[in-house]
Amino acid sequence: MSFIIIENVTKAYQPNGAASRTTVLRGVSTEIEEGEFVALMGPSGSGKTTLLTIIGAMSQPTDGRVIIDEVDVYGLSEERRADFRREYLGFVFQQHHLLPYLTALENVMLPLVITKLNTKEKRMKAQMALERVGLGDKLDRLPNQLSGGEQGRVAIARALVNEPPLILADEPTGNLDSRTGEELINLLRSLNEQGQTILMVTHNPEAAAATHRVLKIQDGLLMSDSAEAGRREARPMMEEVCAD
Ligand SMILES: Nc1ncnc2c1ncn2[C@@H]1O[C@H](COP(=O)(O)OP(=O)(O)OP(=O)(O)O)[C@@H](O)[C@H]1O
Ligand SMILES: [Mg+2]
Repeated sequence: MSFIIIENVTKAYQPNGAASRTTVLRGVSTEIEEGEFVALMGPSGSGKTTLLTIIGAMSQPTDGRVIIDEVDVYGLSEERRADFRREYLGFVFQQHHLLPYLTALENVMLPLVITKLNTKEKRMKAQMALERVGLGDKLDRLPNQLSGGEQGRVAIARALVNEPPLILADEPTGNLDSRTGEELINLLRSLNEQGQTILMVTHNPEAAAATHRVLKIQDGLLMSDSAEAGRREARPMMEEVCAD
């Protein structure tokens, strides 16, 4: 059984005061295996974030099912779904959403609030996560004392501090220059090599090329390129240039 099964998911929004509902997802089905690094692409407004929040147990689909590790996510009570989210999922958002008045270390400690660890253990774990993303020497910086790429890495450290089996990233390189974005993608790739399953929304074809496979969303439906291309080897965003 696949790690993630998305079964005929539909989503219709009815904005406040609107007379009619807008259907964004029209029956999306796909499966993702444990250990995959998958890109999700599609035009602006096509429903990528909507699908990510549905997979992320944050937004109930109008119809259909999401099964993660054999758990029917929306079959759970709200409380158990919140527990499931904390245990299984790490999120990286485009704007990174770091709290400006907390240091890098404190931002990364946030997801550990609900754990039974004591403060010293939480600090240790957060420090290890920041070391993994190469920021072991900037633990006490505030977000505005970090570059955009470094803030992105703090957001990734925060997503992985709980060691969740699945990381969902929504345009993590959206507001970064191409070089810094590339570093962030390569970081995600190395986390994937260490076992994390990653689903990443991106508009950048080069970032998508660093993943195993691309899902394309259009007109509320998903089209996978895997039929033609198959699962390929994830590779660094920039190949080393060899001097001869
Ligand atoms: N809470 C909401 N209420 C009503 N409509 C919404 C809501 N959230 C999203 N939508 C609409 O659903 C559609 C899909 O939005 P979504 O944010 O999923 O797109 P996206 O593919 O992530 O786009 P982008 O690439 O610009 O981030 C859009 O038309 C948007 O206006
Ligand atoms: Mg979006």
